[in-house]
Amino acid sequence: MLPIQSHYPLTKLNTFGLQSYAEQFLRIESIEQLQECIRNPELRAMTWSLLGGGSNLVLAELVHGLVLKIDLLGKTLVAEDADAWYVQAAAGENWHQFVQWTIAQGWGGLENLSLIPGTVGASPVQNIGAYGVEIKDVMHELKAVHLHSGELKTFTHDECRFAYRDSFFKQEGAGLWCIVAVTFRLAKEHLAKTSYGEIEQELATQSLAINAANIAKAVIAVRQRKLPDPAVLGNAGSYFKNPIVPNQIAQTLKQQYPGLVLYPVDANHSKLAAGWLIDQAGWKGRQLGPVGMYQRQALVMVNHGGASASDVKALEKEIQLAVQQKYQVTIEAEPISWN
Ligand code: EPU
Repeated sequence: MLPIQSHYPLTKLNTFGLQSYAEQFLRIESIEQLQECIRNPELRAMTWSLLGGGSNLVLAELVHGLVLKIDLLGKTLVAEDADAWYVQAAAGENWHQFVQWTIAQGWGGLENLSLIPGTVGASPVQNIGAYGVEIKDVMHELKAVHLHSGELKTFTHDECRFAYRDSFFKQEGAGLWCIVAVTFRLAKEHLAKTSYGEIEQELATQSLAINAANIAKAVIAVRQRKLPDPAVLGNAGSYFKNPIVPNQIAQTLKQQYPGLVLYPVDANHSKLAAGWLIDQAGWKGRQLGPVGMYQRQALVMVNHGGASASDVKALEKEIQLAVQQKYQVTIEAEPISWN
């Protein structure tokens, strides 16, 4: 018998702290257990939602169907060659703890991604990224189970189709695959990425030599200063994606607003800092009901207490409208919504 629980509270299982219940809930602790669920016609008749660290989600007050909490654990060095270590972690491993463990082993490469909330299994879905590094730069391959057939498939890097905060698993593969393990290729010739201004500055201020452990230290310090700790103030990280626009639009806006922050993407496109747009539209630190935009980083929506999905959606619309009216730019929500 599978230990399925009804009307299970999810408020503590999402970093936003939104009021939410799962109609049905089950913890998955092995691949075999997941495959057993897939073979069970009664369970298959329900809508399934896969829950990792719950750090990139807007949960409805009642999530219909079955919520599977992916609690697969384990991390190990699976291979090594002259150039790299290949390190695998199961999907349920806590991302930050995994990153710190690799650094403690002397394997650099993931340090810029320190302190990102969530689990290893969720990290490729939205191609998490910070301070000049994205999962796509370090992932070797991953293993996922097909939710209809139970097939265990290895996905190559190409098959994951990574893009900015996006992948196959957020697009065509959404709802069809459960990522169960991810393997990272950590180069032995460590390439420190410190070009992101704030990190470079933090290393200098703390007089830290450039190595993986110190970059992690600097990233942690910067994140702790700027981003709210979900344990204290509920949030799902950046609430909006930075919009990518044609260069012509970016340049016109830059003439109008010289302070506008933008980054080149390719020959024809630039990425605008949505945090700056929201800040300059007057929303930094402002609240609407129990939610608001964080006072130190306007891109992060925070839950001041007792919020539910409808409060989040109301503020999302308000901000989108303000940015659209002021800059004629559309910004998209970054977290995934569950109904
Ligand atoms: N800015 C403002 N006001 C604000 C916020 C930002 O003027 O209230 C300006 C900053 O001064 C800076 C620029 O906007 O010049 C960019 O800000 P920041 O460096 O904080 O980065 P971001 O573009 O807002 C992205 C990621 C973060 C990641 C940082 C660092 C997205 C959606 N967000 O934020 O990722 O930590 O870069 O690499 O791409 C996340 O995805 O949840 C997340 C936190």
